[in-house]
Amino acid sequence: MSKIGARTSYCAEVGENDVGKTVTVKGWAAKRRDLGGLIFVDLRDRTGILQVVFDASQIEEFALAESVRSEYVLAVTGTLRHRSAETVNPKLQTGAVEVLAHGLEILADSDTPPFAIDDADKVNELTRLKYRYLDLRTDGMTERTRLKSEIMFETRNFLHKRGFWEIETPYLGKSTPEGARDYLVPSRVKNGAFYALPQSPQLYKQLLMVGGMDKYYQIARCFRDEDLRANRQPEFTQIDMEMSFMTQQEIMDTAYALVRSVFGKCAGVKLPAKIRQMPYDEAMNRFGSDKPDTRFGLELVDISDIAKGCGFQVFERAVEKVGGSVRLINAKGFVKEDDPILSRRDIDALGEWVKTYKAKGLAWISVRKNGELLSSITKFMSEETVKAILARANAEAGDILLFCADKNEVVYKTLGALRLHLAEKGKLIDKSKFDVLWVVDFPMFEWSDEENRFMAMHHPFTMPHEEDIQYLESDPARVRAAAYDLVINGEESGGGSIRIHDRNLQKRIFNCLGFTDEQIEERFGFFVNAFNYGAPPHGGLAFGLDRLVMMLAGTDNIKDVITFPKIQNASDMMTQAPTPVDKKQTDDLGLKIVDKV
Ligand code: AMO
Ligand code: AMP
Repeated sequence: MSKIGARTSYCAEVGENDVGKTVTVKGWAAKRRDLGGLIFVDLRDRTGILQVVFDASQIEEFALAESVRSEYVLAVTGTLRHRSAETVNPKLQTGAVEVLAHGLEILADSDTPPFAIDDADKVNELTRLKYRYLDLRTDGMTERTRLKSEIMFETRNFLHKRGFWEIETPYLGKSTPEGARDYLVPSRVKNGAFYALPQSPQLYKQLLMVGGMDKYYQIARCFRDEDLRANRQPEFTQIDMEMSFMTQQEIMDTAYALVRSVFGKCAGVKLPAKIRQMPYDEAMNRFGSDKPDTRFGLELVDISDIAKGCGFQVFERAVEKVGGSVRLINAKGFVKEDDPILSRRDIDALGEWVKTYKAKGLAWISVRKNGELLSSITKFMSEETVKAILARANAEAGDILLFCADKNEVVYKTLGALRLHLAEKGKLIDKSKFDVLWVVDFPMFEWSDEENRFMAMHHPFTMPHEEDIQYLESDPARVRAAAYDLVINGEESGGGSIRIHDRNLQKRIFNCLGFTDEQIEERFGFFVNAFNYGAPPHGGLAFGLDRLVMMLAGTDNIKDVITFPKIQNASDMMTQAPTPVDKKQTDDLGLKIVDKV
């Protein structure tokens, strides 16, 4: 039986108003200092730290306090008092007070932890993840965990008030084609058959609309077996929504109102009531990206018309033979002679760096103070051509123009990435600002060299623009989709679309994607059949919950906002999952493990 009673308060929730009261607090010993007749213990719980003092006159407690080590779990009762003036700690929320203990109980001892919680940010990430339960005790992880909980609560609150029902959909399902690889779960009773963990609840939520549920949401776990990146995990969470009988504009307004409310209530971030909608083509042409960061300039400039017949073979080829383009970024003021942001060596390094985006090189022209040009390419072109390029780019002394000539896809990828790189290097981004916009009118299809066919850019259930339906078979690349992404600070925070609810149109789309009738029946039979029984017009979208938390927490590492994340090779440092299983288990499943070829 514990001799110390119930907790009266969390550590950081006491303040000067409570001075004189008896308090009971419980938590972990963050630090212990022994000053002879006095022992100080910093007691930590999920709210913060409170200083506890043991004085030698309390013989029993003092002796016990001497045995306390880091991360011991303690229950303390005592009187709250002001700290003496010279010991006030303004950095601590409870820095003006302390508890003079008259009761102490050690609820659990602790081995010396592999790292001190206070120093966790100096420890390598793999160690932190191996001991994630210790890492969670840090201020940062605790705060982000709280923030995520708050965001989920506010999301539910907001959507519930607007008539959305939270509806569950299965985790053990049938593969839904979202573009990534599925995680499969073998069936024990149906030998050789597999469930797929959902990449998203897409098909189910549309079936909920056919089922008359009208407004659905779910904070849904999604599973995608794809390469991990700083903003991608194999297991992540969506705020998934679907609505019937609403226009694209109404759906987008509802979704944005949710984000605005969450940002305001959970982080005090005020987003504007109205935001821009930028067509996909404009985003690509101006920013080289379908998720443009518009907090800074450095926009792409198309000089393909000038490049035609300009004399520089690399440029001419890109436009005339490859069917691509020549574009540049004017890095304004980046090569000012007195204070350059880019050195000659940086420029050469960039020429190599762009090759990771499949670019063949990075031609450049820099303008010196006296108007003289330094360049890797002007020697190949006439003076008029160079002049025309400088005028188009609005080039002035101190500027450097950086060119990419290639297939459009390569040009966009390269200059889109270069733009972000230059903005970081030149410190052009005001990180205190939130830049939010919709990107709309995505292409319906994108060509896949790997598959040698058109693939759905969003997914095959997306409605094409009415006026583009006529080109479905003759010119698929031209067909735009009623799809939309909400972009925040150059990150895709969420996306969705109006769905096809006409069975004949759905079949046409599947055919455009190269599916035979048999394949449609086999893969999506259950889904398309539902559309034979009265499917309402509907649409929706999904936000990446983890990404929203990242933005509000100001981190660019998704592992910071997932309590138990996976590392690069999709394994879990703490449990070591995935791990081999007993032969009995594989026998039950009728599985035989063979060496991977
Ligand atoms: P989409 O595939 O665009 O759409 O996903 C929606 C949002 O989920 C987030 N996201 C991820 N977050 C972390 N790790 C990942 N691996 C990951 N993949 C995606 C992104 C993204 O914007 N069913 C459709 C939505 C719809 O049409 O309603 C879908 O899943 O923030
Ligand atoms: P070269 O004549 O190949 O030495 O190229 C002259 C300059 O053009 C160098 O600065 C190259 O980096 C650059 N360059 C080569 N190919 C391309 C390309 N496709 N787009 C842009 N610049 C290029």
